[in-house]
Amino acid sequence: MWKISLCDLRLHPDDHRAVAEALESNWLTMGPRTQAFEQAFALALDPLQPPAAFAVSNCTVALHMAFVALGIGPDDEVIVPSLTFVATANAALYTGATVVLADVSSPTDLTLSVDDVLAKITPKTAAVVPVHYAGQPCDMQRLVSECQRRGIAIVEDVAHAPLADALLHGGHTAALGTIGDIGCFSFFSNKNMTTGEGGMVTTRNPQLADKLRLLRSHGMTTLTLDRHRGHAYSYDVVELGNNYRMDELRAALGTSQLSRLPDNNRKRCDGLAHYQRLLAPIIGLQVPFADRLPQGRSAPHIMPVLLPVGVDRQQVQEKMKDVGIQTSVHYPPIHTFTLHKDCERVRKDHLPVTDAVAPRLLTLPLYPELSDTDIEFVCRKLAAILESMPTTEAR
Ligand SMILES: Cc1ncc(COP(=O)(O)O)c(C=O)c1O
Repeated sequence: MWKISLCDLRLHPDDHRAVAEALESNWLTMGPRTQAFEQAFALALDPLQPPAAFAVSNCTVALHMAFVALGIGPDDEVIVPSLTFVATANAALYTGATVVLADVSSPTDLTLSVDDVLAKITPKTAAVVPVHYAGQPCDMQRLVSECQRRGIAIVEDVAHAPLADALLHGGHTAALGTIGDIGCFSFFSNKNMTTGEGGMVTTRNPQLADKLRLLRSHGMTTLTLDRHRGHAYSYDVVELGNNYRMDELRAALGTSQLSRLPDNNRKRCDGLAHYQRLLAPIIGLQVPFADRLPQGRSAPHIMPVLLPVGVDRQQVQEKMKDVGIQTSVHYPPIHTFTLHKDCERVRKDHLPVTDAVAPRLLTLPLYPELSDTDIEFVCRKLAAILESMPTTEAR
């Protein structure tokens, strides 16, 4: 249907082989392949000091586990950007906490505004969730120092940014997901690497690691595999956990996908740079993050642009569809959803940047195999469509 779709999953023969081998192993639930995936993922994040890593069913439950492990509950507030996927906020709502929605930094930096976080911190603030939107790091250096001083936890939502780094004090870089208290990754099928559904939760804190390990599997002190191997005969239940486990098929796919992630991230960087060059001359169009320098490894995930003020976005999307190009919107802000608009446990004061950019956001296709010619086609068509459209305001 699409000449160029928003994302394009191309599985490698190694992916097929890895899943087939897992099937043939006759052990499908969490076991050695899951452990191998966790170890490989942790080493990919930081080969010298790998964090603890736990493979889980998806990033939504990774976020939920993170809040539960931190002891967050009904008396607490969690600060989350309004410009994120709804799961980031919902995971905090499941705990009974109040979600305080914060703004993004500016039209050209769509990551969490640390200034707005500081303005919204109260004595009840228990955690802040920087979302590394589009694969671009939040200002972790400043956020960490502000949160550490106040004893506020940081749960990084790294769904968009596996194997991207951020700049820290002294010019050091560190992998996103290893900087805050807990990092949460998604391997949904449109992400930079996939297991179909899947996620990973990471931490450098041994106490949190112990909690996360238990919470993932009903708070049980031994696993089915331990008993299968004769290493244990029974178990105790010491936390109110859940079944958030990954299975061996997905873990096998994850390890295989992970081996190509650095190369695919580099291809995404090349695509992003080509887009930025071609989109810069389009009058009235803004390209978020275009002036950012890499802070170490980069992992662009999506290609958001801001349409000229006053342009009817849906019409642009329809016209792009007519020429075979799929577009999307990342994201309708959380405070605009029916559920969250009227929810007392969601605070939504003063989000001027989010409100200003939300109607202008448009996501263009981005994936590793997107060729320069494809990108040129997308940019040419977008420029022509914008040229042909009336605006309610002067560009
Ligand atoms: C920023 C962000 N956070 C969390 C999630 C939830 O991830 P999952 O679908 O793996 O639960 C997503 C998924 O799209 C996301 O984009």
